[in-house]
Amino acid sequence: MINLTIDNRQIEAQEGTSVWQAAKSAGIDIPVMCYMEETGHIASCMVCLVKNTKNGQLFASCSTPVSEGQIIVTNDEEVTESRKTALELLLSEHVGDCEAPCQSVCPAHMNIPLMNRLIAKGDFAKSLEVVKRDIALPSILGLICPAPCEAACRRKQVDDAVSICTLKRFVGDEDLNSVQPYRPKISDPSGKTVAIIGSGPAGLAAAYYLQIKGHQAILFEQADRPGGTLLQIDKEILPDDTIKLEIDEILSLGVQIHVNETIDKERFANFLKEFDAIVVATGTPSTDGIPYGLATNNVGIVADKFSYQTSIRHVFAVGNALRTSKMAVRSVGQGKEVAAVIDRYLNSGEMKGYPARFNSKFGKLMTEEFIHYLKDSETFPRQSAGKEGFTIDSAMMEARRCMHCDCRKPESCLLREYSNHYLADQKRFKGEERKTVEKLIHREGIVYEPSKCIKCGICVQLTSNHREEFGLTFIGRGFEVKIGVPFNEKIEQGLKNTSLDVAKACPTGALAMFNEEQQLNL
Ligand code: SF4
Ligand code: SF4
Ligand code: SF4
Ligand code: FES
Repeated sequence: MINLTIDNRQIEAQEGTSVWQAAKSAGIDIPVMCYMEETGHIASCMVCLVKNTKNGQLFASCSTPVSEGQIIVTNDEEVTESRKTALELLLSEHVGDCEAPCQSVCPAHMNIPLMNRLIAKGDFAKSLEVVKRDIALPSILGLICPAPCEAACRRKQVDDAVSICTLKRFVGDEDLNSVQPYRPKISDPSGKTVAIIGSGPAGLAAAYYLQIKGHQAILFEQADRPGGTLLQIDKEILPDDTIKLEIDEILSLGVQIHVNETIDKERFANFLKEFDAIVVATGTPSTDGIPYGLATNNVGIVADKFSYQTSIRHVFAVGNALRTSKMAVRSVGQGKEVAAVIDRYLNSGEMKGYPARFNSKFGKLMTEEFIHYLKDSETFPRQSAGKEGFTIDSAMMEARRCMHCDCRKPESCLLREYSNHYLADQKRFKGEERKTVEKLIHREGIVYEPSKCIKCGICVQLTSNHREEFGLTFIGRGFEVKIGVPFNEKIEQGLKNTSLDVAKACPTGALAMFNEEQQLNL
């Protein structure tokens, strides 16, 4: 047996064991990407670096055997920085979007490509569920949103943007008109109450998501009906019926509302004692009393940009109370985010901002790449919608124009997870030119995107272990090396029996299953 020390712990390991395995058996986690126990190591990614404190050297723990008397650290500043650099080198060659450009720019961060896939399949109920994870007022926003997502839509490079906003309105309207509208699953009551001052888009969204989390949301509105700035919009554009129906959906979850209630400084002081948290969603602060003695700057109430916490610990501010914006979707997005922050705070006492995740991006498509993106969509022109919005047929056709620019493994990709954890900067080593994007798609099985491959060889080894007839192999040399199927066979020929195993094992989104919806708990 070999005796060594890892992170100040005395460890005994069999001769020949790797440092990574020795650490793992002692419950110490070291990240790996290019290593799997089943496939062995090729030591190419370097995210498993650790330090030998005796000589100060960093080495790959997945491929280095233990030796007597080693003293190893797995998590000091130098190790962390080196892993970050290793990730940034991988990212410098990586061409892919974790999230589609439309989703990245949406202030509510709605999963637009997934909404489109479900509409295209005719599954409007699930599509609505996806929309409502991020947008509490889809029919209303479908009529008034200036659609920054459409300005960023990649399909615009080919012909016209996908009609994202009208598609969202379509699923919202289908739900409002259905005999059994969608009811989100509501958590058990937490016994906590949250006062929300103002029932415009931000307040309504906060109330919706807090109520779902089991906290009693209570709206206080100074007008005689809820809606705030929504009520000031031309009725030709946003009819009263739509406002009423969609707000009634929110209230039907058990959200309480008090109208004709002006909350002055004195009542606010009582609220501080009565409620577990307070959300100030009053709109642009102008009336007497607001902002209730909270710290302000020249645009509105001052709040933390990620947690929305104001100068008072359990008071939060969202929407136009922070800064006047014409985009109701911004307020709706903030309502969702503040609800998540308050939920965590009420459950654990922890005040943590809404998480911003690592997001690989590559910008515009090159003309020669259109063909690869169009493989995943239909070439019809943009469908027009009448005053009533899309019909079922036109909505399904429009949704089929989406090119699905998002990655198929945004939740399981290790490159994204570790880049997020180590705060890797994708631009640090980026060159002038980028690799061309290709997509090899087999609709019943796998999607292969070589520009996301880190050449770890796991897929090559797995197909060999499983005795695939063709399997996968390294093709070419040096920087030009690529994973491919021998004899120029199609990707589905290389992965006849192993597509699912290989898609799961690939540490990035380079190899993924075409139908990924199962992974999203739908
Ligand atoms: S492979 Fe990973 S890092 Fe790359 S786009 Fe997909 S999720 Fe993002
Ligand atoms: S084509 Fe689809 S996924 Fe791509 S940006 Fe447009 S709506 Fe989003
Ligand atoms: S495609 Fe193969 S070589 Fe490339 S990252 Fe995935 S498993 Fe590794
Ligand atoms: S070098 Fe060890 S996991 Fe990649």
